[in-house]
Amino acid sequence: MNDLSFFLPCAAGVEEFLAQEVHALTGRVGQDLLTLRGGVRVRADWRDALKLNLHSRLAQRVLVELAHAPYRNENDLYAIASGVAWEIWFTPKQTFKIETTAQHSPLQSLNFATLRIKDAIADRFRAKANGVRPSIETQWPDCRVFAHLTTDSCTLYIDTSGEPLFKRGWRQDKGDAPLKETLAAAMLAASGWWNPETGAVAGQPLYDPCCGSGTIAIEAAQIARGIAAGSLRHFGFEKLLPFQAHVWAAIKKEAESQVRTADIGIFGSDVSHRMVDFSERNAERAGVADAIEFRGGDALQRMPPAEGGVIMLNPPYGERIEVGGVARFGAREAAQTSGSADGDGGGAGDGGEFFPQLATHWKKNYPGWTAWVLTPDLKLPKQMRLKESRRVPMWNGPIECRLFRFDLVRGSNRAAPADAAT
Ligand SMILES: C[S@@+](CC[C@H](N)C(=O)[O-])C[C@H]1O[C@@H](n2cnc3c(N)ncnc32)[C@H](O)[C@@H]1O
Repeated sequence: MNDLSFFLPCAAGVEEFLAQEVHALTGRVGQDLLTLRGGVRVRADWRDALKLNLHSRLAQRVLVELAHAPYRNENDLYAIASGVAWEIWFTPKQTFKIETTAQHSPLQSLNFATLRIKDAIADRFRAKANGVRPSIETQWPDCRVFAHLTTDSCTLYIDTSGEPLFKRGWRQDKGDAPLKETLAAAMLAASGWWNPETGAVAGQPLYDPCCGSGTIAIEAAQIARGIAAGSLRHFGFEKLLPFQAHVWAAIKKEAESQVRTADIGIFGSDVSHRMVDFSERNAERAGVADAIEFRGGDALQRMPPAEGGVIMLNPPYGERIEVGGVARFGAREAAQTSGSADGDGGGAGDGGEFFPQLATHWKKNYPGWTAWVLTPDLKLPKQMRLKESRRVPMWNGPIECRLFRFDLVRGSNRAAPADAAT
């Protein structure tokens, strides 16, 4: 198969890191590798598509672009979809699903637009395969088609990933607000702990003191060990017609040969022992149980697990995830309510006391460490009475966040001024 045009969507703010990762995996540069808003476009071959699916930690999917044309109405969409050789990709005996997204499309109904594209695909198959046409299956389709509409252009893609790529296959136990694996990887890239261009890791110990189901620590450990992000899962391309089992087996074998031992301290802890248990089980499935030390304990009390390094976390925030441990207990006492601080959910802690206390604990016990905190609360540095030295915009799904960097200095709240006014 000749070169194809792929689009790899990613969370906003992650595009540059994804472009570095795609460059490392495909070797493509210049016009063959474009960083766009919300993703990266790369011209590459089919084998690259399998590698990107297997290795990318930052992409949400790997889509093959099959048509890009102007449109004005639903009939135009029908014509564009009729012109695509869908029969190269799947058979009329398979099921498919169409997902349509739009930005400023003039069309009244996206459902009707989707219906017309579906009709075009079905009619094309019917004409070519003696009246047989593939049927729609919305939950577990064999094949996914994506349509993206702008004001005046329509792009049609066939998906090679299947389930979105943040689903690595190891996180079967999770808490209320788990971080997407792709976002955890983006935090590691933005902090410089992991370089997606070279694959290298900084070699400093990494510690998540509010680890939940262990996402940040497990991503970091897999990166350090050279374990491919998708080594435990299946992909959509396995059901597409160009799939060749022997090519895929060779790519997987090559990936397995790149797994290495790495002796970097990676640590996680959580006030909830249930979460620690989840993290351990997840790490076991991810093949990194022996690379991470998980412990129970309050982030306000845990002492450094190494002499220095990087703290990285998305702390409890808002109604879904409450603060546990001493801060919550303190808040309750102040409110003169009853109940015990078991740290396993419940309670009314809003983090009000937690963040200043965390800052005090860090300044006293973690001088020399660098802390990276992902939060939707843009006032967090003020709440912590710490001055951030960087703030990186990132999106957690639809929620706009900042990844704040704090350089921890004993007993001081001073640090270099922020280098981005966002
Ligand atoms: C937003 S979640 C972190 C999710 C995690 N990154 C993941 O991917 O699963 C916040 C975590 O902080 C924990 N937590 C709340 N209060 C804490 C405290 N005082 N000390 C340590 N952990 C705490 C909660 O149990 C919860 O697991």
